[in-house]
Amino acid sequence: MNVQDAYNQWSVIYDTNDNPTRDLDADITRKALKDLRCNTIVEAGCGTGKNTAFLAERAHTVYALDFSPEMLAKAAARISAENVRFVETDLTQPWPVESESAEFVTCNLVLEHIADLNDVFSEAARVLSRSGHFYISELHPFKQYQGTVANFQQHGVTTQIDAFVHHISDFLAAATANGLHLLELGEWWHADDVQKPPRLITFLFEKT
Ligand SMILES: C[S@@+](CC[C@H](N)C(=O)[O-])C[C@H]1O[C@@H](n2cnc3c(N)ncnc32)[C@H](O)[C@@H]1O
Repeated sequence: MNVQDAYNQWSVIYDTNDNPTRDLDADITRKALKDLRCNTIVEAGCGTGKNTAFLAERAHTVYALDFSPEMLAKAAARISAENVRFVETDLTQPWPVESESAEFVTCNLVLEHIADLNDVFSEAARVLSRSGHFYISELHPFKQYQGTVANFQQHGVTTQIDAFVHHISDFLAAATANGLHLLELGEWWHADDVQKPPRLITFLFEKT
């Protein structure tokens, strides 16, 4: 199913259905970014705001961008912080954020739905100030090679959402092409993932 329609539907149960990938991302993101303090964060693909309130405690302003009005409505309903600006945005188009105005961009569980990584990496690099950081948490390509794609079950029906495989080398090439260099790479397993490939991969890039 097309990505926007799917997330509009999934929004109803996104926060409550069984979803170890969502939960693992919440856990590792809180650990990775616990010491983050800055003026401006851009959250690219905020969804229902699972990570947004946490980010709002770490910055003066958070731009929370997503192209699903239903996911954004859930996020706006759960988050009362006045320093969060929710903006309906297609991440493959120019973002409504000034160039070199953010110290930190985060993108969690979004990039499997983006055909061309350069669309997001180029905007992340544009909005970041010098030495700013771009954090990505994404479904590990090893899971994608096994056929895993974002999906949800509702009323007994499983819906698979349009997805694109991105190899680790694709992430690194998109970063290099946009003046971002790798500081850290992590691989993460949920407690259910014993003897399985890593579920998530994280990257921390710095703008040179
Ligand atoms: C799995 S959810 C993750 C939401 C949130 N980051 C989290 O970790 O819970 C993926 C989100 O990416 C958004 N998304 C996917 N493609 C997008 C695009 N091209 N532009 C804007 N948002 C997009 C979807 O609408 C959805 O809210």
